[in-house]
Amino acid sequence: MNTFTFYNPTTLHFGQGQLEKLTAEVPKYGKNVLLVYGGGSIKQNGIYTQVVHLLKSIDASIVELGGVEPNPRLTTVHRGVDLCRTQHIDLILAVGGGSVIDCAKAIAVGAKYDGDFWDIVKRKAAAKDALPLGTVLTIAATGSEMNSGSVITNWETKEKLGWGSPFSYPKFSILDPAHTTSLPENQTVYGMVDIMSHVFEQYFHHGANTPIQDGFCETILRTVIDTAPRLLQDLNDLDNRATILYSGTMALNGILSMGVRGDWATHNLEHAVSAVHDIPHGGGLAILFPNWMTYTLDANEARFKQFAQRVFGVTTTGKTDRQVAEEGIAELRGFFNVIGAPSRLADYDIDDSTIELMADKAMVYGDFGNFKKLTREDVVNIYRMSL
Ligand code: NZQ
Ligand code: ZN
Repeated sequence: MNTFTFYNPTTLHFGQGQLEKLTAEVPKYGKNVLLVYGGGSIKQNGIYTQVVHLLKSIDASIVELGGVEPNPRLTTVHRGVDLCRTQHIDLILAVGGGSVIDCAKAIAVGAKYDGDFWDIVKRKAAAKDALPLGTVLTIAATGSEMNSGSVITNWETKEKLGWGSPFSYPKFSILDPAHTTSLPENQTVYGMVDIMSHVFEQYFHHGANTPIQDGFCETILRTVIDTAPRLLQDLNDLDNRATILYSGTMALNGILSMGVRGDWATHNLEHAVSAVHDIPHGGGLAILFPNWMTYTLDANEARFKQFAQRVFGVTTTGKTDRQVAEEGIAELRGFFNVIGAPSRLADYDIDDSTIELMADKAMVYGDFGNFKKLTREDVVNIYRMSL
């Protein structure tokens, strides 16, 4: 286990009815609220009405920024930054999924930066401050509700890049499983794949003596695998929604990476695919992760064997370590198939004509990945395996 420092300042309000906490949280930061949301789901499922009602009950004045895209774009961040400046915003309230929250994080930091926010994403400048941000989460997936990360797409340059700062943690996040019941089946599946992928990114490392971390990761994976089919049978089941919602937050709020160095190569591979093709993040991960596993198996067979045994209950008698490890990867492919996740880039009409372009995007900061360092050749190979 490596040395580590853990910091996470986000207050989490979890469970049914917790939306009321808005009336206690918002006044801590002021009266002028920028309400950020996506393409309209919160208006269809009633969350918008509830949020506006609660904000009005405490005399907050509301400025709206709707229409945040899935895979949120820099142009929308710029619009939000302008609103913060001209409307003297005190608090940004993001109501939606990871895209809305990531966009709101960028607006919060961008509003306190004199130059173009993209400088911060491109690491030409560092964030030094941010407006306070609160969130009401409506999809279990990214963990953005309790971390400092954000992913923004510059559609003009076809770049989709992650960034983060100590200032971009939400001050508070409200998670009510009832807010996720309107999620359609495909988005529910993408979310669960993303949650599992966050665990994989932190589970596949070469560190020794990490029994607690391993156990946390394996528990989340087994829980999602066990819950997913039941949730997909009844998308309104609040207990299963709550389990997945809690899994999503725990998978990427920093707890799993205490004392270990995560890999994160597959996320970089996926961001390059969605930078070029604008596909759902979880859909891309479902295609790429099993192929990354097969490709990197040699880097640490024992780790994959442990994954197979402890997560999928693969037996070992009469098998080599490699066979056990390969069976674990096959089980994962089978599980993704059962829940209806995509398995090939062709499912999104992506063929080999853009592989070189996607590889260019993935290589923007050079070789990457900590479990196995991927070169450009490796990247191209994994994309080809995924066609
Ligand atoms: O835009 P609206 O109308 O709200 O619809 C959204 C969107 O179409 C819909 N939706 C959300 N909640 C709903 C709902 N529909 C019905 N009922 C509800 N309750 O779902 C669609 C997808 O939403 P989005 O926010 O894009 O999904 P997700 O939470 O998966 O976020 C994906 C983005 O987050 C980034 C991804 O790369 C992608 O850009 N990530 C952010 C991370 C972070 N900040 O830590 C880590 C992740 O690995 C990821 O990279
Ligand atoms: Zn992810």
